[in-house]
Amino acid sequence: MTDDHQLRVGKIENGTVIDHVTGGQALNVLAILDIDGSGGEEISVGMNVPSERVGRKDIVKVEGRELSQEEVDVLSLIAPDATINIVRNYDVVEKHRVERPEEVVGVLSCPNANCITTAHEPVDSRFAVLEDGVRCAYCGTLIREGFARYIEVD
Ligand code: CTP
Ligand code: ZN
Repeated sequence: MTDDHQLRVGKIENGTVIDHVTGGQALNVLAILDIDGSGGEEISVGMNVPSERVGRKDIVKVEGRELSQEEVDVLSLIAPDATINIVRNYDVVEKHRVERPEEVVGVLSCPNANCITTAHEPVDSRFAVLEDGVRCAYCGTLIREGFARYIEVD
């Protein structure tokens, strides 16, 4: 449904389209994917664009990159209705809804400096996914928002 009154972002050739992102969350999606533009990646972002299914949505298109399951798991925390579309040679070859996992392991680092997972021990971080945030399985610290800030750096 394209007409002269609509500005459409171009299709991508190879990569991932993260569609039906909760309105206003696109910049957090980019933060979770560790994309700030400095790496020269080709990124298109639409924010608060009209959607029949969800009213208003954000959309993020990342050329040349397919997301890892860990990244998708964290995305589900801020964009529970998102659709991940894998594009190869301009065609959508895979489409799936994100699912909120029961726990995220080895993805987020605990904000508690005294937590065993942050003490240079060989212990993977482990957070239970709750309705209103995630809770460290070791020390109970709750993270409610700003998940991108807690992504572990390798
Ligand atoms: N897309 C893209 N580049 C491509 C193919 C698709 O940017 N080469 C985008 C489309 O613009 C759309 C999303 O990927 O935003 C999903 O594409 P498609 O499955 O063709 O669209 P719909 O059927 O409308 O998706 P849905 O049913 O999930 O809403
Ligand atoms: Zn902890």
